[in-house]
Amino acid sequence: MKLTNIVLTTLLISASQAAIAQDPVSQMMNIMQSGANTASDIMKSGSDTASNAMNSAINTTKDAVDSGIDQVKDTTTNFFPLSITDDFKWTAPIVMAIETGDPKKGKALAKKNKCKKCHGKTGISDEDDTPSIAGQIPAYTFKQLHDYKMKQRDSKSMYKSVKNLSNQEMIHLAAWYATQKPEVMAGDKKGKSIPILANIGDKKRFLLACDTCHDEDAMKRGFQTPIIEGQKPEHFIETMTAFKDGERANDHYKLMQSISAKLTENEIEDLAAYYATKPMKDEDD
Ligand code: HEC
Ligand code: HEC
Repeated sequence: MKLTNIVLTTLLISASQAAIAQDPVSQMMNIMQSGANTASDIMKSGSDTASNAMNSAINTTKDAVDSGIDQVKDTTTNFFPLSITDDFKWTAPIVMAIETGDPKKGKALAKKNKCKKCHGKTGISDEDDTPSIAGQIPAYTFKQLHDYKMKQRDSKSMYKSVKNLSNQEMIHLAAWYATQKPEVMAGDKKGKSIPILANIGDKKRFLLACDTCHDEDAMKRGFQTPIIEGQKPEHFIETMTAFKDGERANDHYKLMQSISAKLTENEIEDLAAYYATKPMKDEDD
């Protein structure tokens, strides 16, 4: 009996030990299994979330691109008459709209509006004091036409010529003149020294070199900065003097007004002579 008891007890103990021993293992297994399940659930839901996020990001991007395209479309159709007021500011939509200029339409508009009467057939003017506009960058030409219309720049003949033009028509005109060959003026290119103000400037007067902005290289020139090479010296002097006196005041931040105010008459004449005969860099080179 005693032996049986011992055996039984031993058996019971080992059985319960086994049960106890087995329990943590299966518990572990269960925990691990459920852990794995949770992990796979999390991963699955994570990947769902990620793919949802990606899809929604793709859709958002598509929407943004679509609405961007719509905005550009809008810009060229409805934007202008509403948004360019007399208080002109360069904005991305205006810059983009200028790229929509159609030289063919511009040519027809130039004919219809008799621009050639003063500016010549292709924008090389017949009169000394009338600027040549062939080969000029379109952003500058557009802004000047706009400013004459809005009486931000004063000229009776120009006001009459542009007062009935829409912004879009001015953009086409600017595009056409930009495609025309610029004037090449004969001049004594040899032996003529470059005015120091053109390419060096004057630190004492806080004068930047003109070429800092009016660089002959289009990639270095500001998109709105006019080409001044090949300009009629008479117009050059007249307009620099107008800047100096504040009669021409349509320049942003009074940039050209403050520069010309520091120049003497002689310096303006030298610069006019220099730029008149300095050939404009061919954009195709
Ligand atoms: C009756 C003569 C006349 C007619 C016609 C005329 N212009 Fe002008 N234009 C001038 C004169 C003069 C100036 C210079 C005025 C000034 O000093 O601001 C000028 C200036 C300009 C300028 C500014 C150039 C610069 O370098 O700043 C542009 C651009 C221009 N005209 C384009 C045109 C276009 C385009 C037409 C036709 C729609 C036209 N003009 C018709 C006489 C004329
Ligand atoms: C900081 C840049 C900057 C510098 C430096 C600068 N310009 Fe200008 N200039 C401009 C911009 C921008 C315009 C166009 C203004 C406007 O929107 O009407 C302009 C316009 C002009 C025009 C009018 C062109 C025309 O066809 O009527 C002349 C001429 C001119 N500049 C000459 C000069 C000369 C000469 C110097 C050096 C003494 C000089 N600029 C220095 C930025 C500059």
